[in-house]
Amino acid sequence: MSYSNILSKTQDGITTITINRPSKLNALNSETIAELHDAFAKANQDANAKVIIITGAGEKAFVAGADISEFADFSVEEGAKLARKGQEQLFDFVENLATPVIAAVNGFALGGGLELAMAAHFRLASDNARMGLPEVSLGVIPGYGGTQRLPQLIGKGRAMEMIMTAGMIDANMALDYGLINHIVAIEELMPLAQKIAQKIMRNSTVAIGAAIAAVNAGFKDGTDGYQTEIEAFGRCFGTQDFTEGTTAFLEKRKANFPGK
Ligand code: COA
Repeated sequence: MSYSNILSKTQDGITTITINRPSKLNALNSETIAELHDAFAKANQDANAKVIIITGAGEKAFVAGADISEFADFSVEEGAKLARKGQEQLFDFVENLATPVIAAVNGFALGGGLELAMAAHFRLASDNARMGLPEVSLGVIPGYGGTQRLPQLIGKGRAMEMIMTAGMIDANMALDYGLINHIVAIEELMPLAQKIAQKIMRNSTVAIGAAIAAVNAGFKDGTDGYQTEIEAFGRCFGTQDFTEGTTAFLEKRKANFPGK
């Protein structure tokens, strides 16, 4: 698949996916969502891609939301289909990838943009970033998981206020809320994301994938996170990575994990 709305590049173990529609503040139309799915799926299957960083082109926006021009005349059925398809294709898909996904939020992350950042495994932001779920100002609600992931990340009361006011919070408040893990100047954003990615890459990718699944299990209805953890913990003992990790520790050397 060739891309017209995104860029994807893999170098030194890191796949960087950049949403590249700066003239539309990187708004997510259906073509961009399909391209993102493809790029995430390919990176997840690529043995050379140990960490994925998702960011937006330019210095103004990560993603300013779902592309409003695309759904303005949708029917009830089309609206539900848009949300269902988007969640399956991109937002749930990203959250459940075994490869770690870091969102580098480089400006506005609104609506579907914040929802994409929240589907990533964690977030960093530049000091110009502004985040919000403005959907109720358009007469609609967040449909790409925002009503679920925002309260999970910042608590129900804060999420209710952000959703009801349709307001934006700045990077400092997002840090205070625990929505992002770090704030840096915009020119430091990608270097910081890469530095954290390199730290992650020293560890077992197999174990990291299992840890992501166990953490996510605790947030899924009808799934026992503790039970998922027990089973995933047990499976680790049958992996080459476990043999290498424990042997390296006992031999007082650095582990050399076989990889994906
Ligand atoms: N969908 C479609 N187009 C969008 C968009 C979106 N979510 N967000 C921005 N754009 C487009 C604008 O229509 C404009 O296109 P144009 O130049 O062809 O007219 C271009 O991106 C630049 O945006 P503009 O509004 O002129 O920039 P600004 O600096 O004045 O304002 C924002 C920036 C982010 C405050 C403003 O663009 C905005 O409110 N966007 C919508 C946010 C939103 O409601 N998202 C949730 C969608 S569910």
